[in-house]
Amino acid sequence: MNTSTQDTALRSTLGSREGEAKARIQAGLQLVLLALAATSVMPAGGRAQEEAPSAVRAIPGITAEDPFPGACVSCHVVLPDGRDVRVSTMMTRWTETVDPPLLAHARASVGPGTRLAGVHPEVASALADIPGGCLSCHRDPSSPAPPFSRLMHQVHLTGGEESTFLTMFQGECTYCHKLDATTGAWSIPSGPEP
Ligand code: HEC
Ligand code: HEC
Ligand code: HEC
Repeated sequence: MNTSTQDTALRSTLGSREGEAKARIQAGLQLVLLALAATSVMPAGGRAQEEAPSAVRAIPGITAEDPFPGACVSCHVVLPDGRDVRVSTMMTRWTETVDPPLLAHARASVGPGTRLAGVHPEVASALADIPGGCLSCHRDPSSPAPPFSRLMHQVHLTGGEESTFLTMFQGECTYCHKLDATTGAWSIPSGPEP
């Protein structure tokens, strides 16, 4: 008899009450192990505490520094390598043509009754206040503009390893959504490009 068949045989001969007893012993053992684990991270002269993993996850703007306090316009800039990913630059392109992947996200964000042309209307004035100026259409249910409450998540949070926002920026919600720790209110900062 190998160990696993022995084990099966053993389990089938064990009455349900014996099984319960076994579970209780296991639960007790887990408690002891938990207690031991807790003792080992106790501040024993400071050293153990230093070596213990941090209990608080680094969340930008909440438990860690926020490198993008202005949200959209802090991150969509001319990059050090010269690539221009500013919203105004993208907008100039969209008024001529929209790349198929972005258009697919936009279509997925609107109801089936809305047909998108794949060309953005001229909205120069909206660029003075990003995303506030955009939201005047992109939050208005009577506008054909895809709601940002969907489009922004489609664009930044889907695509897995193909998405730079997920790989480079870990998909951090707080790069856009900012918490006011005093009131508990969430908001998205808005303003012109630097
Ligand atoms: C911390 C950085 C960061 C912030 C903040 C940010 N974005 Fe982005 N955004 C990205 C990255 C990275 C991508 C490219 C995602 C990918 O690889 O598909 C992107 C993609 C986009 C795209 C799609 C571009 C395309 O051609 O497919 C749009 C539109 C966009 N962002 C608008 C915004 C707006 C509007 C805001 C503010 C509400 C914002 N972003 C906030 C980093 C950011
Ligand atoms: C006057 C209303 C209005 C304003 C303001 C506006 N948009 Fe739009 N947006 C639209 C409409 C309408 C569409 C759908 C266009 C289409 O049919 O493809 C759209 C679509 C988009 C799309 C999907 C791609 C496309 O063109 O279909 C993106 C991305 C976008 N808008 C970003 C922005 C950003 C960023 C701002 C602010 C700088 C902004 N929009 C301001 C009306 C507006
Ligand atoms: C790139 C910027 C960006 C990122 C990243 C982002 N959001 Fe948002 N989110 C927005 C915008 C823009 C809106 C629409 C705000 C409005 O309409 O006033 C929004 C709206 C929302 C809403 C309201 C939805 C509704 O239907 O009204 C929720 C909930 C939300 N976000 C959750 C999240 C969570 C959770 C994450 C992270 C996993 C996240 N967001 C990441 C930009 C972002």
